[in-house]
Amino acid sequence: MPDAERLLRECVRDYKPPLTESRIRNLLRYARSPGHSLLLYSGKDLVAMAAFRRYRTRDFSYYGYPRARGLAGFAYLKTLLVAPRWRRKGVALLLRTRAVALLRKRGFKGVASTCWAKNVSMVRLNERMGFTMLGRFPASWRGKGEESLLWEKRFRAHP
Ligand SMILES: CC(C)(COP(=O)(O)OP(=O)(O)OC[C@H]1O[C@@H](n2cnc3c(N)ncnc32)[C@H](O)[C@@H]1OP(=O)(O)O)[C@@H](O)C(=O)NCCC(=O)NCCS
Repeated sequence: MPDAERLLRECVRDYKPPLTESRIRNLLRYARSPGHSLLLYSGKDLVAMAAFRRYRTRDFSYYGYPRARGLAGFAYLKTLLVAPRWRRKGVALLLRTRAVALLRKRGFKGVASTCWAKNVSMVRLNERMGFTMLGRFPASWRGKGEESLLWEKRFRAHP
């Protein structure tokens, strides 16, 4: 089994609802594209993955969330995964910080991200990284019965 698939399968149940097969396939496409993910290894062991892409204005405007429309020119941080045995060691903080620095270098105006409101780890991590919470999507968003939060970090313009 390829490394990224093994990592995803280790983390399936951390998601509410658990990652579906179609979501896993979609994330594997990100993992195979160096322009859309950072992978962190310890020797041959894949420890973590951060996936990202260009933010699309239509991403959230469907759901009547007006401020999301101000995110043109941003990158969107998708899934961040750390293998269970590597957690609480600063790996997510390290990898997400690297991803943000890379996206800044690529010329994006900032980064946006969403997480489930109940995902305390991600809420704390986003706060710790200086992200601003733009608002909440109701539980009906994506029909998953869980409230989601939208975050942004705006880069200061280069002089
Ligand atoms: C969320 C996740 C990526 C965090 O990875 P991690 O490497 O353990 O996180 P770090 O060690 O870098 O923690 C950085 C900060 O995040 C917060 N944090 C991380 N895990 C936490 C937890 N279990 N409880 C509370 N805060 C947590 C803390 O602020 C932490 O700083 P601290 O250790 O100084 O308090 C990891 O738990 C994971 O892969 N979870 C399953 C997948 C998931 O939910 N991904 C996010 C949805 S896209």
